Amino acid sequence: MNHKILIEKALEAKKNAYVPYSEFHVGAALLTKDGEIYTGCNIESASYTPTICAERTAISKAISEGKREFEAIAVVGDSEFTYPCGVCRQVIREFGKDIKVIVASSVDDYKEYTLEELLPNSFGPEDLENNK
Ligand code: THU
Repeated sequence: MNHKILIEKALEAKKNAYVPYSEFHVGAALLTKDGEIYTGCNIESASYTPTICAERTAISKAISEGKREFEAIAVVGDSEFTYPCGVCRQVIREFGKDIKVIVASSVDDYKEYTLEELLPNSFGPEDLENNK
């Protein structure tokens, strides 16, 4: 799967951002290992704390449709390069340290990381494996 296609999908999703408070639009597109794409946008709330980021919207959609294995996630926002927040990094990490994170300012201008690069020395599901 071409990164450009994933970035295009993230840009499309960004248009749906519900952001009456911050006015900061974010879109994400999550590629599953079986080649499907789930998109997400940020959704804010008048009581602020229920706000969900674009990345977690996309992940929630995919998980609730039965997907668990992810290849990459593209993120676009209103800043030149919008990086996933700490909470989203931790949620992506839940599903793999090798997931590629593509942070894009346009379809032709992007940076690619692994989740491990963005969240080194992380805590994850393996830490709980021998604790049952
Ligand atoms: N936001 C995201 O959607 N993803 C991120 O990783 C960074 C922050 C959203 C949350 C909120 O709606 C707005 O950007 C400003 O923080």
